Amino acid sequence: MYLEQDIIDQIQQNNDIVDVINEYIPLTKKGANYVCICPFHSDTNPSLTVSRSKQLFKCFACGEGGNVVSFVRKYDGLSFQEALKVLADRSGIALPENYSSEFSKEKRDYKERLIACNTEAARYYYASLRSPRGEKGLEYFKKRKLSDETMRQFGLGYASIDGAECINYLKSQGFTDKEIIDSGLGVYDEKKGLRSKFWNRVMFPIKNLGGKVIAFGGRVLGDGEPKYLNSQETQVFNKSNNLYAFDIVRNCRKDHFILCEGYMDVIALHQAGFNNATASLGTAFTPGQANIIKRYVKDVYLSYDSDGPGVKAAIRAAKICREFGLSCKVIDMNPYKDPDEFIKNLGAAEYKKRIDEAKNAFIFEIGTIRKQYDLNDPDANTRYAEEVAMLLSDFKDEVTRTNYIRACAKEMGVSEDALSKLVSQAASSGRKYNVSTEPKSGIHSDDKKEDGKTRVEQIMLTYLSEYPALYPQIKNILSPEDFVDETNRAIAEKLFMDMDNGIVNPASIVNMFEDAERQSKVTDSFTTYINGLSDNSDVETAVVDIIYQIKNNAMENMKNSGKPINPTAFMKMKKELMEIKKIKIKLPK
Ligand code: GTP
Ligand code: MN
Repeated sequence: MYLEQDIIDQIQQNNDIVDVINEYIPLTKKGANYVCICPFHSDTNPSLTVSRSKQLFKCFACGEGGNVVSFVRKYDGLSFQEALKVLADRSGIALPENYSSEFSKEKRDYKERLIACNTEAARYYYASLRSPRGEKGLEYFKKRKLSDETMRQFGLGYASIDGAECINYLKSQGFTDKEIIDSGLGVYDEKKGLRSKFWNRVMFPIKNLGGKVIAFGGRVLGDGEPKYLNSQETQVFNKSNNLYAFDIVRNCRKDHFILCEGYMDVIALHQAGFNNATASLGTAFTPGQANIIKRYVKDVYLSYDSDGPGVKAAIRAAKICREFGLSCKVIDMNPYKDPDEFIKNLGAAEYKKRIDEAKNAFIFEIGTIRKQYDLNDPDANTRYAEEVAMLLSDFKDEVTRTNYIRACAKEMGVSEDALSKLVSQAASSGRKYNVSTEPKSGIHSDDKKEDGKTRVEQIMLTYLSEYPALYPQIKNILSPEDFVDETNRAIAEKLFMDMDNGIVNPASIVNMFEDAERQSKVTDSFTTYINGLSDNSDVETAVVDIIYQIKNNAMENMKNSGKPINPTAFMKMKKELMEIKKIKIKLPK
């Protein structure tokens, strides 16, 4: 059962975020806020900031953020509901009886049942692969050059054409329809009843860190869509907090891991003797996965596909790794598509050589940028240097930044001094709003322009929540519909409504969203500042400019929406837009 929003807000209001976090990690007062070492990435500076007035926390290094519920949830690895229970207990708030029982022994036992169901299915698929009806599957794996030993080690199996077989087997083992569905193996069909999710696929069991089967990836034999079908997320399967083959990898006794894209890549590498290869689970690499890796090693080698999307994904993964203090290198797979094909064609010794020659991921990234410029043209050369400088300005730690400037200057054949100057420019004037939150990696939108639009909106919402006196002055100019980012629009609607009633409660707005990714994004909308604004008069000027930009973006969106535009209304908006620059905002001194 789910709790009413009222109770959630009540729990949050009775658990002051400063007090709660302070029980986990001692906080130090800094200005109006509190700071501490962030527990969500490997940190040496106090990057995590806690605001009592907003009841929010935000790490300006790794991007993690949210309200008190998000903190407990993340810190203790709990679900949203479990974290609420912990905080309700802490503050003596009674929860409905049936709610508490959800996190009782029964609930844990149910998770065990789901794991047992997956384990039983893995046994069944494994046996099928070796039975007459699994011939096609076995043939497929043999064609892909997997040895019996490898198939055994990874527990590979086969889901036969008749999906009902496995379902019937699970039922015969005492699993209920609900358990089969909740474990991700069965789907309910209106007409046909309980059906198997997987059929006619070779099966890759996915295990949790403790080595228990929690999900499956199933691949079609040959061509077909979708190529891989993965279990959906369940009570026991969280895609972003597990890694493929990690039960083996965690015990590999190497000082680095190899990160790949696909299950087959991992398996091929293990077969070739690289028992430190792992992969994300059918989605892009996540901060949660970086967090797991950093408990074991400091170095990650990326062995992603050599095609365009593979290169993009590698750059993204590298950025996440860096944020978690992992040093990251990129293994060159050319001329082959992926590690599986590379090993098949050139063998383990050649792959080992490529590991030794692997390039620092950042140097690799600027190499891919260089290809977009014609470096015989001096102007293009300058723009290339500026783009690199922009990326370099993102390094917050000075020593790291200096080291990277040195390495890049050498790579680019320019002087360290010159590049260093460009980086300073990029950090200050080059980018008008050098805002101090990083959007969380992995959910970076490809489109820089869209990112910029989202950011000005986040700045506006942050200043509104910080200076409620702004609201009466802007509410007739700016409306929630002007926000182009969907999440920001939803936040604005609630915030404007609250402010009409004289309430400012960002942490409660965070509660409107249940999934952790969204909560973090909402937190960004209350903690995105413009660096270097020293006093209220700076804010007064900046706010006018920000409103102008938001309105301008809204108009641009309207133009690009493809919907017919009323010319008179459009002209009116344009005129209003021109007027905005003349507005005077006043904050109390
Ligand atoms: P092979 O063709 O078997 O060699 O696959 P691969 O291991 O090279 O995988 P590929 O590079 O095509 O994809 C990498 C990973 O992305 C796979 O291991 C899956 O986890 C995931 N993936 C690939 N195709 C799909 C798909 O159609 N749907 C989903 N959900 N995930 C996919
Ligand atoms: Mn492949």
